[in-house]
Amino acid sequence: MLKWAGGKRSLLPSIMDKIPDNFNKYMEPFVGGGAMFFELRNRGLITSAILSDLNLDLISLYTIIRDRPGELIESIENIDYKNNKEDFNAARDEFNSDPTPVRKAALMMYLNRHCFNGLYRVNLSGKFNVPFGRYNNPNIPSNDQIMEVSGALKGVELRYSDFETVMREAKKGDFIYLDPPYQPISETSHFTSYSSGGFGDKEQRRLAKTFRDAAKAGVFLMLSNSNSPFIMELYSDFNISNILAARNINSNGKGRGKINEVLITNY
Ligand SMILES: C[S@@+](CC[C@H](N)C(=O)[O-])C[C@H]1O[C@@H](n2cnc3c(N)ncnc32)[C@H](O)[C@@H]1O
Repeated sequence: MLKWAGGKRSLLPSIMDKIPDNFNKYMEPFVGGGAMFFELRNRGLITSAILSDLNLDLISLYTIIRDRPGELIESIENIDYKNNKEDFNAARDEFNSDPTPVRKAALMMYLNRHCFNGLYRVNLSGKFNVPFGRYNNPNIPSNDQIMEVSGALKGVELRYSDFETVMREAKKGDFIYLDPPYQPISETSHFTSYSSGGFGDKEQRRLAKTFRDAAKAGVFLMLSNSNSPFIMELYSDFNISNILAARNINSNGKGRGKINEVLITNY
């Protein structure tokens, strides 16, 4: 339902082929647009789940969709901002000015559909700063879609958290799908600023260590990343398969298209 950097929708067929046959709890610690979760949910494969992300606005939005979908729909209907740069900038200012949680969620839906590439990026003071996207026909999700997503999120635990905290809670038989911000494959594809923190080599190492620890505990783990020597080395003990991906967001637009992604599992 949300556009999200690194959204996995186009890769789902290859990823779904490789999920474990059976699992207990599902955990997705870099949930973003949540393509994988919604697919598993639609197929009836999820009994309980924790979705988390270090983006507080995103987690608040999902929480509002889950708990107050009617109010959110009403608030979206009350948005008067149109599809032009002036209105977009006014919506962004309002979003950054601490509106009520429901209004903020409604504005986030507007911004997600009207901003450049559906990116979410903040400046050093935490203010959303993605420019206007100039789309001919941006479509805000319909009321039915919001109700559907709300239903899919019922009973799901949503958490604003760093990945490691959630991963360390996993027990034998649980399934964790990881889609971290990628190791850039070239100097130019340097899109890592989903939140003000960034995700560099140190974070990739911390993730690999947490992955190994959870693997030892009998958790099923699956991780997407780019096909770089650094990532190959970090996960050399595990099963690595290549998948060709059309990633939908690239920092400068030039490198758009197919790049090599890998899927790493411990099973
Ligand atoms: C590649 S995106 C996930 C895309 C998602 N699979 C989809 O289909 O839309 C990576 C996500 O990781 C989040 N993130 C970045 N650093 C994090 C951290 N240390 N802990 C948890 N989440 C983090 C970002 O906010 C972003 O939403």
